[in-house]
Amino acid sequence: MQNFSYKNPTEIIFGKGTIRAIKDRIPPQKPVLFLYGGGSIKKNGVYEQVKRALRGYRVSEFAGIEANPLYETCLKAVALVRKEQIGFVLAVGGGSVLDAGKFIAAAVCFKGKDPWEILRRHGSNVGAALPVGAVLTLPATGSESNGNSVISRAATREKLHFFSEHVFPVFSVLDPDTTFSLPVRQVRNGIVDTFVHVMEQYMTFPSGAPLQDRFAESLIQTLVEVAPVTLKKPGDYEARAAFMWTATLALNTLIGCGVTQDWSTHMIGHELTAFYGLDHAETLAIVMPGVWDYKFAAKKEKLQQFGRRVWNVKTARQAISETEGFFHSVGMPTRFSDYGIRAAEAAAKVSARFKERGDIFGEHGDIDAAAAKKI
Ligand code: NZQ
Ligand code: ZN
Repeated sequence: MQNFSYKNPTEIIFGKGTIRAIKDRIPPQKPVLFLYGGGSIKKNGVYEQVKRALRGYRVSEFAGIEANPLYETCLKAVALVRKEQIGFVLAVGGGSVLDAGKFIAAAVCFKGKDPWEILRRHGSNVGAALPVGAVLTLPATGSESNGNSVISRAATREKLHFFSEHVFPVFSVLDPDTTFSLPVRQVRNGIVDTFVHVMEQYMTFPSGAPLQDRFAESLIQTLVEVAPVTLKKPGDYEARAAFMWTATLALNTLIGCGVTQDWSTHMIGHELTAFYGLDHAETLAIVMPGVWDYKFAAKKEKLQQFGRRVWNVKTARQAISETEGFFHSVGMPTRFSDYGIRAAEAAAKVSARFKERGDIFGEHGDIDAAAAKKI
């Protein structure tokens, strides 16, 4: 196990009826930005619950954050924050709204000229941010308990991420009841995103971190157990609650302590969303089996361990096919052809982007433009 420092400042407030708890956690003198997406919260009662909890605060609303949130839209919110002298950002929705809230909070405090630099430098230039709180309505990204944010730029068709310790939410409300309005497609996406988050941190090489391995395996075992239930019985509170908590723990920095991580599936996937508009999780399900195949020899030991402990199979190859089978079982395709995309064209586009930026990912730092093309 490598040296690490572990700090997660986010308070999780979990359970039924917990949205009201936000009112004791936002300083009363601070004007609040109430940020949300395309309107799902107006249909499922979340909007009213938040409004009720914010009674007595000076609140400015900003609606219309897109799935795969746009830089251009975030800049409009930044202007509103400045005009209204907002002191607290409350993001209400899925990962996209939370990520937008984090970016807005950092961009408002950014000293440089062009806030896109935050993304180009992946957050290394973020020195401060407004406090962010969250009400999560879609279990998937882990954004509710981490310092990551992913923002897309329409003008250039780019999708870049940043990390900063300044944008961990100060609190996140996770009320499973708010997720019952999710369409099946988003539940499926959340299951696959959660799965792949665990794998980006786990499926590398043995690194003397047995507890992190067992944590990771137990997250997947829980997911495999509750995913079919929550898809088949969307109103089952216990299954949905277990899924929601699993998604948070998959990417709240805990299982990644002291281990070398991969993340090449995500980075290739972000390019595919930028070029083709596929949902985030759809890209992951296509790319990850390819990464495992390309790095088969280097990942073999962990694949075998995964197969043995999670799928009860003997070989590394079987572990890959069980994983693909699981994706199919939740209704997630794993091939470009399922979307009418030509794999060779996608490979050329992604590879050109990696080359242009000099990007290199993977636990061995060997997933470059050429490797991405092969994958
Ligand atoms: O916009 P609204 O109307 O709210 O509708 C959303 C959106 O259309 C809808 N939705 C959310 N909660 C709902 C609901 N519909 C009905 N009932 C509810 N309770 O779902 C649609 C998708 O929402 P979105 O927030 O885009 O999905 P998700 O949470 O999967 O977030 C995806 C974004 O997060 C980034 C992805 O790249 C993508 O941009 N990621 C962020 C990460 C992080 N911050 O750590 C890590 C991830 O790997 C990922 O990259
Ligand atoms: Zn993801």
